[in-house]
Amino acid sequence: MLAASDIRVRFGGVVAVDQVSLIVHDHEIVGLIGPNGSGKSTLINALTGLVPAEGSLEVDGKPVPLGRPGAVSRLGVLRTFQTPQVHDALTCLENALIGLQEWNLRTLAAAWLRRRAMMRAERGRWERAQEALEFAGLADKSDALAGALSYGERRRLELARVYLGRPRTLLLDEPAAGLNQVETQTLVRLLKSWRDADGPALLLVEHKIDFLEELCHRMIVLELGKQIAAGEPAEVWADPRVMDAYLGSVVIDA
Ligand SMILES: Nc1ncnc2c1ncn2[C@@H]1O[C@H](COP(=O)(O)OP(=O)(O)O)[C@@H](O)[C@H]1O
Ligand SMILES: [Mg+2]
Repeated sequence: MLAASDIRVRFGGVVAVDQVSLIVHDHEIVGLIGPNGSGKSTLINALTGLVPAEGSLEVDGKPVPLGRPGAVSRLGVLRTFQTPQVHDALTCLENALIGLQEWNLRTLAAAWLRRRAMMRAERGRWERAQEALEFAGLADKSDALAGALSYGERRRLELARVYLGRPRTLLLDEPAAGLNQVETQTLVRLLKSWRDADGPALLLVEHKIDFLEELCHRMIVLELGKQIAAGEPAEVWADPRVMDAYLGSVVIDA
């Protein structure tokens, strides 16, 4: 379980996130929505330690220091970015492998003594990376350079990488942005199959309404850094403050 209280992020004079509190329970899918510039990405950056923030954060009841990316990822909280973070010059399999923590062997002697285990581990790593590519629908692309992938495939490659990291909680920043209708549906199916296979809790930033409705148990709405509404999707859409905040800024897929 991820629990954040009174998160606040300031950039100079701008308060980008203002006293936001939220809880994401295990296996729960929570949508984080709001117009452009409302602080969604900044909140995710704050929760994953990428920007300095005030407030407090707990993972499974343990306090986690803010502003330290390693601290939260070690507790199983992973994320993807609004722009997919993929290394073009590496193959898809290599990109996926980045999702695994490397062994930290201090000395060469230790490495030599453990060489059999290392070879087994190496094989295991490859198998798991291949499995992650299969999960993401990229099994036949394992040797292809990531630079040759379509945008939708790059998005799914990023997902393969976090899948390998076995997150307990995953923060997804606009995973369907830039995807066409078919790719968006593929992504919905993929996230549903992960959910049904005991997958991670998701905090999902997204603009596409059909995407949110298919996946979210709850939604949280930000406007100008503040939470203005929260609840089940139907309640949230019916809230007049949400309508006002969204008027003219939402992307509705026909
Ligand atoms: N690194 C930064 N430096 C200064 N201002 C920033 C920075 N990142 C975001 N902001 C500002 O914080 C506000 C929230 O931005 P952001 O979190 O990206 O919104 P959203 O993801 O909801 O579109 C905006 O006013 C944006 O200009
Ligand atoms: Mg954003």
